[in-house]
Amino acid sequence: MDLSYTLVFTVFPYLCLTTFVVGHSYRYVTDRYAWNARSSQLLDNKSLRWGTVLFHLGIILTFLGHAGGLLIPQKYYDLFGITSQMHLAIAHWMGEVVGIAALAGCLLLLRRRLTNDRVRAAGSVNDLITLGGLTLVVAGGVYNVFFGNYNVLDSVAPWIRGIVFFSPEPELMRPVPLGFKIHVTLAWALLGFSPFSRLVHIWSAPVFYFFRNPILFRRNPELTRKVVDSRS
Ligand code: HEM
Repeated sequence: MDLSYTLVFTVFPYLCLTTFVVGHSYRYVTDRYAWNARSSQLLDNKSLRWGTVLFHLGIILTFLGHAGGLLIPQKYYDLFGITSQMHLAIAHWMGEVVGIAALAGCLLLLRRRLTNDRVRAAGSVNDLITLGGLTLVVAGGVYNVFFGNYNVLDSVAPWIRGIVFFSPEPELMRPVPLGFKIHVTLAWALLGFSPFSRLVHIWSAPVFYFFRNPILFRRNPELTRKVVDSRS
């Protein structure tokens, strides 16, 4: 087995995944007050709107598409009559739409970070690395969707499942075009970097908000009377 393939397509992903898990756990325990999205909406809302909506919609749908398309083997899709050609066509068309949305959002947010004086003054190098990294990963994905023309279901998908389920097979990546190799390697690097950035906010998405009991706010006549009395 080629040592360089083992290093890039087995050792590196596990290094990034370990940093991802240990880094998030450590930061959650030691630095919970800084565990947030560090929103800059108060500094400038107008320039944020389009960028953040396009970016978040695009990237969240991209995540779901990657999880469903790469982690679930084709044999389960076959059970529902979805052939590999159909699977690839859906991935291709959906990938074009959500990928372009995410990329447009990334570029708008990056331009805002670089050109808006207030946002730039309050920002950090870390913010630029985060957005720059996301832009590179997303741009690589979009390039592959438009120009890659390659069946990832027999190569990249089983390779990723091998990493996730602890039976790595780096040789599966040998025939894969360079564009895909760069995209996946940058994506692992970004995963490894995320605990040190504002990306930690992803894991605090307020999903339980929709299921919690409603909080009732009622007027308290007794209290209102006391306040009115105290003012007169
Ligand atoms: C899971 C649901 C998510 C929620 C509820 C959420 C929420 C937020 C909020 C409230 C902000 C601050 C306001 C803003 O700048 O838009 C923000 C910013 C940001 N989010 Fe998310 N986010 C989510 C997922 C993600 C994902 C999946 C990524 C990337 C992988 C991401 C990357 C970013 C980045 C880079 C910023 C900073 C944008 C900037 O100010 O330049 N978010 N997010």
